[in-house]
Amino acid sequence: MSKDTVVISIGGSILIPDKNDAVYIGALADMLRRASEKVRIAVVCGGGKIARYYTSTGRDLGGSEDSLDIMGIDATRINAKLLALALGDLSSMDVRPTVGETAEMANKVGIAVMGGTEPGHTTDAVAVMLAEEMGAARVVNATSVDAVYSEDPRKNPDAERYTEMTIEQLGHIVYADHGAGKSSVFDPLGVRIAEKNGIDIEIVDGRNLAELEKAVLGQPFSGTHVSSRRGARSSRSL
Ligand code: UTP
Repeated sequence: MSKDTVVISIGGSILIPDKNDAVYIGALADMLRRASEKVRIAVVCGGGKIARYYTSTGRDLGGSEDSLDIMGIDATRINAKLLALALGDLSSMDVRPTVGETAEMANKVGIAVMGGTEPGHTTDAVAVMLAEEMGAARVVNATSVDAVYSEDPRKNPDAERYTEMTIEQLGHIVYADHGAGKSSVFDPLGVRIAEKNGIDIEIVDGRNLAELEKAVLGQPFSGTHVSSRRGARSSRSL
């Protein structure tokens, strides 16, 4: 029987948190190595503070939005190379620029790793595009929040925490969040592509490797499961 395929979108702030980066990336690589014996894995890396440094400094210097996005993409790719390096023989430092080439690479190496592709969206959207290309039914979003909430829980402690929701419900949250300078729990373009292609999205705290591993393996995990399939149950909160 062929392995289940899963694409992981790993936020840059998770990959390069500020301290113990090598310890975390090494442990993440060990977990991915273990999980790849059971599921076929591809990873899309975000840019985190490295991307933010270049985009904000470039903006102060008068750079166009396109040129800032391109620097952001370069940052995501250098982060992807760091994870590929930690994966050693199982991956390749040859981080490919398109989802098509990465999907091809996934057939040659154990775990294909990539960064961003082109201006105008984030690596969450790239992960959904790669899932579509690879025929994966799920994208696991390893991020800095532990679930989807009705509002920012740091601002409203009474915000509702969802364990299950439909892609339409996630759409309402991310489209409402999407404004200048605002970042939402998942890229709205990624939500749209996932909805169109019946791809589920799983939101999990990327620093919690035990929960991330469960999500990658398709086991029950602490976080939010967003169902894209028709007839999915509506939200359940915890
Ligand atoms: P990220 O995917 O890390 O975006 O790409 P982000 O919004 O900072 O990530 P999280 O989810 O909140 O951690 C960094 C930047 O690189 C550019 C965009 O400017 C993005 O904000 N980028 C990235 C692109 O233009 N295209 C891509 O395919 C990927």
